[in-house]
Amino acid sequence: LKSETVEALAGAQTRAEWDAVRVGTLGRSGKLTGLLRQLGTFPPQERKERGQSLNRLRDELTVLIETRGQEIEEEALQKRLNDEKVDVTQPPAMPMVGKIHPISRTIEEITSIFSAMSFRVAEGPDVETQWHNFSALNTPDHHPARTDQDTFYVPSEQEGGEPRVLRTQTSGVQIRTMLDEGAPVRIIAPGRTYRADHDATHSPMFHQCEGLVVEENITLGHLKGCLVEFLRVFFDKPDLPVRFRASYFPFTEPSMEIDIGWSRKTGEIGAGEDWLEVLGAGMVHARVLANCGLDPQQWQGFAFGMGIERLAMLKNGIPDLRSFYESDLRWLRHYGFSA
Ligand code: PHE
Repeated sequence: LKSETVEALAGAQTRAEWDAVRVGTLGRSGKLTGLLRQLGTFPPQERKERGQSLNRLRDELTVLIETRGQEIEEEALQKRLNDEKVDVTQPPAMPMVGKIHPISRTIEEITSIFSAMSFRVAEGPDVETQWHNFSALNTPDHHPARTDQDTFYVPSEQEGGEPRVLRTQTSGVQIRTMLDEGAPVRIIAPGRTYRADHDATHSPMFHQCEGLVVEENITLGHLKGCLVEFLRVFFDKPDLPVRFRASYFPFTEPSMEIDIGWSRKTGEIGAGEDWLEVLGAGMVHARVLANCGLDPQQWQGFAFGMGIERLAMLKNGIPDLRSFYESDLRWLRHYGFSA
């Protein structure tokens, strides 16, 4: 029985297996207990001797079993310590940190530059009335920009109501701000704009930033000084060549487009022979001021609008407009900005 028990104990690897051996030996129906029970069937002399040796055996087995029990506890503890060991020299698993999208970042940069010139940020709705998006901005009913080839129309919720448009420009915010607040005003309005157009350089949804200043005695000189300053700070080039070229917008008179010097060959800004258009601007048309209840004899202003994607592409060397909206994580990690 002793060698049998020793062998069984050596085979027991878990507490449960060990307990089975213990119960099977010393328990109420265990093997040793069985032998002790049989003592009564022996004659007195033999019973005494056998009893003594069985008691010794029981003491020995008890010690063996307890010892093995402690070993098993010890092994289990050791295993846990090994499994749960922490290597403090391992580099930590860093959490993935998001990046700021180049469009958001560019809006932040533009906002910060104009804030320093006391502009504040104004907003308007993406779904705009035709009046705010076109009519109040002196855009005639027959103007080609109004055709549904260029403009997304949103049917009215009311029977027979006039359709609204997905704003084609942020210029409607000029109207809303002048109507809400009168003059003087000095705002920029970054936001989403929409046109029915899609290719490598046009997206049906894109971003613009509008600007509007209306004060007394505002001149073209203010417009030029403000925008040259903005462009030179934005592109971080104090000598950036800036050119004002006559153009046409219904809501400004005179109107102009603004180009910066760059090299078509290398894409470098502020270098080379070529010009690149980055802004539309002009003096606020007297009719637009009047549409907003302001007397053009008293108030003058200038307005400007810029494409955010175009500025972000130029500044950060981003080649394809469509990549802004693809949410490709590799692209975002490459062109995104750390907070
Ligand atoms: N809204 C014009 C555009 O989308 C830009 C602009 C804004 C021009 C303000 C003049 C004044 O092209």
